[in-house]
Amino acid sequence: MEWLLNGGVCMVMMMTIISFVHAEDPYRFFDWRVTYGNIYPLGIPQRGILINGQFPGPEIYSVTNNNLIINVHNDLDEPFLLSWNGVQLRKNSYQDGVYGTTCPIPPGKNYTYAIQVKDQIGSFFYFPSLALHKAAGGFGGHRILSRPRIPVPFPDPAGDFTFLIGDWYTKHDHKTLKALLDRGHKLPLPDEVLINGRGVSFSSSLTVHRGKTYRFRISNVGLQHSLNFKILDHEMKLVEVEGTHTVQSMYTSLDIHVGQSYSVLVTMDQPEKDYSIVVATRFTAKKLLVSSTLHYSNSRQNLSSAPISDGQLADELDWSIKQARSIRTNLTASGPRPNPQGSYHYGRIKISRTLILESSAALVKRKQRYAINGVSFVHADTPLKLADYFKIGGVFKVGSIPDKPRRIGGGVKLDTSVMGAHHRAFLEIVFQNREKIVQSYHLDGYSFWVVGMDRGTWSHASRREYNLRDAVSRSTTQVYPESWTAVYVALDNVGMWNLRSEFWARQYLGQQFYLRVYSPVHSIRDEYLLPKNALLCGRASNIQRITSLRS
Ligand SMILES: *[C@@H]1O[C@H](CO)[C@@H](O)[C@H](O)[C@H]1NC(C)=O
Ligand SMILES: *[C@@H]1O[C@H](CO)[C@@H](O)[C@H](O)[C@H]1NC(C)=O
Ligand SMILES: *[C@@H]1O[C@H](CO)[C@@H](O)[C@H](O)[C@H]1NC(C)=O
Repeated sequence: MEWLLNGGVCMVMMMTIISFVHAEDPYRFFDWRVTYGNIYPLGIPQRGILINGQFPGPEIYSVTNNNLIINVHNDLDEPFLLSWNGVQLRKNSYQDGVYGTTCPIPPGKNYTYAIQVKDQIGSFFYFPSLALHKAAGGFGGHRILSRPRIPVPFPDPAGDFTFLIGDWYTKHDHKTLKALLDRGHKLPLPDEVLINGRGVSFSSSLTVHRGKTYRFRISNVGLQHSLNFKILDHEMKLVEVEGTHTVQSMYTSLDIHVGQSYSVLVTMDQPEKDYSIVVATRFTAKKLLVSSTLHYSNSRQNLSSAPISDGQLADELDWSIKQARSIRTNLTASGPRPNPQGSYHYGRIKISRTLILESSAALVKRKQRYAINGVSFVHADTPLKLADYFKIGGVFKVGSIPDKPRRIGGGVKLDTSVMGAHHRAFLEIVFQNREKIVQSYHLDGYSFWVVGMDRGTWSHASRREYNLRDAVSRSTTQVYPESWTAVYVALDNVGMWNLRSEFWARQYLGQQFYLRVYSPVHSIRDEYLLPKNALLCGRASNIQRITSLRS
């Protein structure tokens, strides 16, 4: 941790200790080895990416404000990075583990992430961010528990289970998928859906006791499909969404879009039998589905799986949008701190800027590309955060992506798109989707209030539909086909933050950019120094490390 406690940061920590009379927050250490290995999600061997021999990778358990020191050894034959979905990494975008902020870990080398889960609770996951590694594994759950004296708005469950669900390719290796995209093709549709790394006929069973209540944390770690999650004959009480305690409503099934995480409580109140837990693709002509077994401990009866009803596409959309709007913050419950989540009145803050972000798909030089506001992101030769830190010119231009979509027919251009924004600005972001697919967007470093979503084109009048009272605060939102979603975000976290499509082929082919949240002050109160162990690469390779405070 020496690298964390360099002069300046140490001073800030001392000040923190003095002003809040807290002991230093606890540390947790992890040593992870990333390798290829055979996995058998469908009984036949496939090349997977394992962490410490596991697929999915080990689950991280942490408590609010813990410092996680994760030494990642890359034993693959290609560069590797992990990113921490939903962890806000306050003042510390260097640790984000995406190529715009962090140099890849070269094959045979290691990098030690030092991340703090500051002022956070909830259910998240980590995943490999480079290439199409996500199609081979390398992901795992991450739960951030409340500190002992902070009230949680429901009794302790009898058990707490993580479900990582996602679509999956069996016929194509992750390198083949990448090669397809590099050659300018689209990907074929995924072949299967997995629950915790297991597919149809190979799923596992979970034993529960009748009368008890369990917490299920469900994350969609897949590549493109929205998934519906249900437990036959059981209702789910929604309690948490990506770190926000929600109004506790009952649902018979939940739509979970790529990159999203939900927690539900399930009471085992049915006759002693086995029940299917069913995960199925949404909004697709051909349904992929997988089930695993919920086994009551005294059950003698063998599993009878009920048929899965297939709704029509239009019905699914209306149903889904209605469900999305019903998910709200419990204003009186505590979040990571003892004060109620509703004490921050986001609806009363003046918007300082509105972004309208519209995706498009186009061929550029006969290769498939995807864009936001007409700009398709291409990586620079140097992580943008490092270029910023060392003041290396010519790597990117702030303002290389407009705030609003260009005129129709403007085409798509390739650029290293970076949008500038002021620290402390309060943004309204409208995701406008004119395409016919469901999309999912994620912003690193933040959570945002999902204030509204509806069919059609957003206009100023759409603001009348906003929920300015108890919208849910989260880091990933869906945008329905030919629809819009509006979010508010308070830019209180200086850094270089990735805003991307969670549809993995799309982000790989350019549907992403970086939001450079900038403070002219350059103070370690707003942003930490580059970690001492930071890997250097590209045009930052031979640079003299700056160890003192920047001016
Ligand atoms: C790599 O791991 C070693 C211990 O195995 C550690 O001392 C070193 O700091 C790590 N390197 C980086 C860049 O984190
Ligand atoms: C909200 O949280 C409070 C306080 O923890 C709890 O008593 C209440 O039942 C919750 N309300 C709903 C609607 O979930
Ligand atoms: C269901 O029956 C089969 C064979 O009759 C048995 O192998 C299996 O363990 C049973 N499953 C459960 C969950 O009891």
